[in-house]
Amino acid sequence: MSRKVTVIGAGNVGATVADVLANKNIVSDIVLLDIKPGLAEGKALDIWESSRINYFDTRVKGYTDDYSKTANSDVVVITSGVPRKPGMSRDDLIGTNAKIVKSVAEKAYEYSPDAIFVVVSNPLDVMTYTAYLATGLPRERVFGMAGVLDVGRFEAFIAEELHVSPKDVSALLMGGHGDTMVPLPRYTTVAGIPLRELMDEETIQRLVKRTQKGGGEIVQLLGTSAWYAPGAAVAQMIEAIILDSHRVMPVCVMLEGEYGLKDVALGVPVKLGQNGVEEIIEVKLNEDEKALLYQSAEHVKEVMKVLDEMHLF
Ligand code: NAI
Ligand code: 2OP
Repeated sequence: MSRKVTVIGAGNVGATVADVLANKNIVSDIVLLDIKPGLAEGKALDIWESSRINYFDTRVKGYTDDYSKTANSDVVVITSGVPRKPGMSRDDLIGTNAKIVKSVAEKAYEYSPDAIFVVVSNPLDVMTYTAYLATGLPRERVFGMAGVLDVGRFEAFIAEELHVSPKDVSALLMGGHGDTMVPLPRYTTVAGIPLRELMDEETIQRLVKRTQKGGGEIVQLLGTSAWYAPGAAVAQMIEAIILDSHRVMPVCVMLEGEYGLKDVALGVPVKLGQNGVEEIIEVKLNEDEKALLYQSAEHVKEVMKVLDEMHLF
């Protein structure tokens, strides 16, 4: 069956999504789009030229700001916008990125009204809310990637600390994509063994803090934000949608009462399939975990208020 994915923004994250997805060989077409002339065309051509070497059939093409080429996409990924520089928080990007995300979401929706939208631009939770407002789609079809990246970082740090394969580490993480995110050691295991049987509390808390600041650690090293792990995380979400595999992963979605929270876009565990978010899974949280999740939701709501005050909608 022919399957088409559009990635808007052919920068570091967008091009990586296209590359990782092409190498999965599960869609027929990937369209990369950017406003910078030649950028999407060049990156798409480079990826396509790796098709024989890496053995995939997915046709990858790039275009400059021509939305007609994105028509009838099954999935649209929004990575357009500016990344942060050292000293900036993700929230500092709202002034620039909200306008970009609104405009690209509206244009992409016009050509692909049946698509599922995956938002990546930062500040992620509020940009998810922006795309939700701009498309008018139900929350099941417009959601954001952050949790797969953040939990992947937590799992990688645990694997490194315990000298075990990352394949055996399985963690849960909820909340906003920022320093208030909530890694959940109580729901983290190594091959089924609870983390707390393998690691002392001080080490766990050190890894929790490193995860919360994981994006900033990369920004300090590179002078811009990450793309390999974010690109792989988005591709994993697209794979779950395209293959209708009902995988469970943390996704940023508008909440309508789940976890006692309403009218806020926040990371929670969901089941992902061909219709997007099929189910929001409500795990039992203890009082401390609940307090951290509510604190994270409050922070996201403050940034959502900044968006509301921009009067874009
Ligand atoms: P980048 O600067 O490498 O790429 C962004 C691209 O967007 C540029 O090529 C730019 O020309 C393009 N662009 C800007 N306005 C556009 C428009 N109106 N239409 C089409 N394209 C447009 O940035 P990078 O590193 O790829 O990051 C992209 C965004 O993703 C940033 O906001 C960053 O903070 C965010 N991000 C989010 C993550 C997450 O976990 N949710 C992880 C990593 C990055
Ligand atoms: C990250 O966490 C920049 O949000 C992005 O790496």
